[in-house]
Amino acid sequence: MPERALPHKRWNMTQTSHDRLLIIDFGSQVTQLIARRLRELNVYCEIHPYQKVTDDSLKAFDPKAIIFSGGPDSVMREGSPRPPKAAYEMGVPILGICYGQQVMMHDLGGRVEAGEHATAEFGRAYVTPTDKQADFLNGWFMDASGREQVWMSHGDHVAEIAPGFEVYGTSPGAPFAITADLARNFYAVQFHPEVHHTPNGATLYENFVKLAGFKGDWTMGAYREEMIAKIREQVGDKKVICALSGGVDSSVTGILLHEAIGDQLTCVFVDHGLLRLNEAEQVVAMFRDNYNLNLIHADESDLFLGELEGVSDPETKRKIIGKLFIDVFQKYADQIEGAEFLAQGTLYPDVIESVSFSGGPSVTIKSHHNVGGLPEKMGLKLVEPLRELFKDEVRTLGHELGLPASFIGRHPFPGPGLAIRCPGEITREKLEILRKADAVYIDQIRKHGLYDEIWQAFAAILPMRTVGVMGDGRTYDFAVALRAVTSVDGMTADYYPFTHEFLGETSTRIINEVKGVNRVFYDCTSKPPGTIELE
Ligand code: XMP
Repeated sequence: MPERALPHKRWNMTQTSHDRLLIIDFGSQVTQLIARRLRELNVYCEIHPYQKVTDDSLKAFDPKAIIFSGGPDSVMREGSPRPPKAAYEMGVPILGICYGQQVMMHDLGGRVEAGEHATAEFGRAYVTPTDKQADFLNGWFMDASGREQVWMSHGDHVAEIAPGFEVYGTSPGAPFAITADLARNFYAVQFHPEVHHTPNGATLYENFVKLAGFKGDWTMGAYREEMIAKIREQVGDKKVICALSGGVDSSVTGILLHEAIGDQLTCVFVDHGLLRLNEAEQVVAMFRDNYNLNLIHADESDLFLGELEGVSDPETKRKIIGKLFIDVFQKYADQIEGAEFLAQGTLYPDVIESVSFSGGPSVTIKSHHNVGGLPEKMGLKLVEPLRELFKDEVRTLGHELGLPASFIGRHPFPGPGLAIRCPGEITREKLEILRKADAVYIDQIRKHGLYDEIWQAFAAILPMRTVGVMGDGRTYDFAVALRAVTSVDGMTADYYPFTHEFLGETSTRIINEVKGVNRVFYDCTSKPPGTIELE
């Protein structure tokens, strides 16, 4: 089942032996992207909200370099965010981005002005070099235009740079677009090098970490070894239970734990009767046959489908499934004598969300189904070996651990399963039809070589029957909706532009091959305004 973050830190991240970079978060919407760019360079970094960074915590973290993120505030506002003074005195390179640049200039003796006089810039801009050279700009300004496209998003701007700094790049709205004090290894830019719209931005991060002396030793091979040692140290000879869903996060968690502690681990696979065609058998076979791990296949479909009978409200469905999941998991876990730990596949974005002052949606659109709450309820301690990783790092780790590529590349599947793809009442008949239609649809997508281009695709069964004609007879059968989206993180999504030929062929196949369906719709709603799932 999907795992979510708990708001406390379990791993002592300060024990890692890698070079470490600290990103002080001033609340930018894109701070996570800075971390992404750095991880791509095999640099270990953590994002800490500025409120939590003190002189002491800085020293304890012992960064080899520091980055100040952007942020929405104005340095001229009293009480606006600041890094601790110690940051400037540690003798490590610092890179300030947008608000981070302004805060550096302000703190070090320069001047920032409010964004009047048409100097605010939002969106694409072009930076041209000055006559000064800096290794920080290696690989920049190389093409014939002699300029670089960057992404600006600032109201205020630097009006006077701090002593020791010089200007290395300018844009129409930001005369101090790129500034540096080479003697102190302080760099400060007004734009956002981490976003897509600064196409050559990654080069600046690469130059910065090179100048700071990073070895680029953060690899998933090394991570695997270190994490195995850490798990052994944390768990000792105690027993661990893990809820396995067959999704990438819980699978990698389970396999890593199994490598570390073998038979001390028991995985529980809760089959709620809302899985796809043959899914339960495939998941169980994969883990038992390939990994030989202790696996309890908890077939509780009668219980779940019984409780869901007659329920059509989406939130009620989710709540029933979430609660039953916890009850069932607990029932099986209780049978494992002496279990002291629960393994969860919490990822780094969940951890950031749980501490960031800017993060997290304020309105509950859907209550996500998860195992959060279980450890407290059961008095278990947590093992979360993926807490430091982004999703693509988890996939790489999965490869390292020998998970088949077909498993690693699978589209996301929600915890409540087919329940939220069956609007209205859930019946066994509808689930049966839905499973078959979904299998044909996914088969079509694979046959056309589109599976990896699409972020998520699935069929849903609509709560209505419509009239059709097949052969010479009237039909009155269910309608199926097909959904396919592209997305980066599931937060926003575009519907996938299939060709008419593909849609026609798929519709024909579904109606011919799946008894009980006589009509197929394609859902061309993006998110927002739609959500990806139908409920
Ligand atoms: P929505 O439908 O909210 O979905 O646009 C965004 C992504 O989240 C998945 N999803 C869930 N995943 N538990 C999960 O682990 C849930 O309760 C849940 N609901 C939706 C959905 O499949 C999509 O990938």
